[in-house]
Amino acid sequence: HGTAKTNRLGHLEIGGVDTVQLAEKYGTPLYVYDVALIRERAKAFKRTFEKAGITAQVAYASKAFSTVAMVQLAAEEELSLDVVSGGELYTALAAGFPTEKIHFHGNNKSYEELVMAIEHNIGCVVVDNFHELDMLMDICKEKNTVIKVLLRVTPGIEAHTHDYILTGQEDSKFGFDLQNGQADEAMRKSIEAKQIDVLGLHCHIGSQIFETTGFILAAQKIFEKLHQWKKEMSFESTVLNLGGGFGIRYTNEDDPIPAAQYVEEIIAEVKKQASQYSMKMPEIWIEPGRSLVGDAGTTLYRIGSRKDVPNVRQYVAVDGGMSDNIRPALYQAKYEAILANRAMDKPEETVSIAGKCCESGDMLIWDLPLPKSGDQDILAVFCTGAYGYSMANNYNRLPRPAVVFLEESKDTLVVRRETYEDMVKLDLPLKEKVKS
Ligand code: LLP
Repeated sequence: HGTAKTNRLGHLEIGGVDTVQLAEKYGTPLYVYDVALIRERAKAFKRTFEKAGITAQVAYASKAFSTVAMVQLAAEEELSLDVVSGGELYTALAAGFPTEKIHFHGNNKSYEELVMAIEHNIGCVVVDNFHELDMLMDICKEKNTVIKVLLRVTPGIEAHTHDYILTGQEDSKFGFDLQNGQADEAMRKSIEAKQIDVLGLHCHIGSQIFETTGFILAAQKIFEKLHQWKKEMSFESTVLNLGGGFGIRYTNEDDPIPAAQYVEEIIAEVKKQASQYSMKMPEIWIEPGRSLVGDAGTTLYRIGSRKDVPNVRQYVAVDGGMSDNIRPALYQAKYEAILANRAMDKPEETVSIAGKCCESGDMLIWDLPLPKSGDQDILAVFCTGAYGYSMANNYNRLPRPAVVFLEESKDTLVVRRETYEDMVKLDLPLKEKVKS
């Protein structure tokens, strides 16, 4: 998919660049991104709203992959940006992202993070709880300013996905509960506060979702509430943010609908609800992360050791693992992979791809059909663009890989590889170094 293909040498090529040469040039493990594909995904979301004549914001959920270059790419594609921490906000500022298009999320934003957001005049804060609402009012009072907000509500919906990435259900750490009076109180309080300008509501029902039912149900529940608030508080929502979570295809087992279809069905439902309750049509905002960058990312590894457990399994080890992709260990996530240097070769055996971390659970792929592979072959694991680098860590003091953007036959280093010096950069010694 995307610009990926096999070139004349039988190598995997992405963005017109030979990945085997990339592995040579930058070392492995290496994250590479098909930039044209990210642009295409962004345009598809935007186009769908434009075609329907809906005022919208497509905010890139930068938690999926936040680096200065990626944020700049989001700006080029005229996306808005969802940040969830001072660190992601700082990255956006360092990238020169237009601050009025930044939305700030999170269930436990600190006082300092809120001050930072307000001082930089960001577009809106997505308020999660009363503690935050109180802090926002205090800060704005002190600074004699007004902050635009969305209230995050929990509609009580169970989307079908992995438990850890489910967020819309009633028993959740996120948002004001829509059913038990919390959301009503938060809305009343926000409307009364001079420092708070409520643009509307936000909800996010989960991640890697394959159908639109959950979004439709959420929209229905929210409109019931909006209808009530219109009567009781004369409040009309300018914005309805239905979050992200649009699923992508990691393996053949996944069968997501096209991104545009999620959006079309959401638009249709919001239109229907708005007209049913004679309410003005709100702007529709969404926050896709995975569906913008997930399948644009590929990780290149070099194969090293092998272990044969006779009649049971062949372990083939690569030079990375749960340190650069924790998703298999954390969510039993599945991936597909090929040999980048022998992309045309037919599978000859079934192997299981092990990482190099000291942990039995550090397995990247179980039972992968591959050509007979050996030392120095390059393994390309697909669809690692979302929550790969962003959840990477230094377990076992493995330096985090470099990131390279590929587009129009050019490779651009956008994150340099960590070095061993980086591994001890933050450490303070107990005593003078005894030997080097
Ligand atoms: N908006 C909110 C409020 C979110 O919590 C999330 C994801 C998104 C948008 C973007 O969701 P996406 O379109 O990327 O599915 N680390 C997990 C995913 C956790 C997602 C958390 N929130 C993973 O690797 O699958």
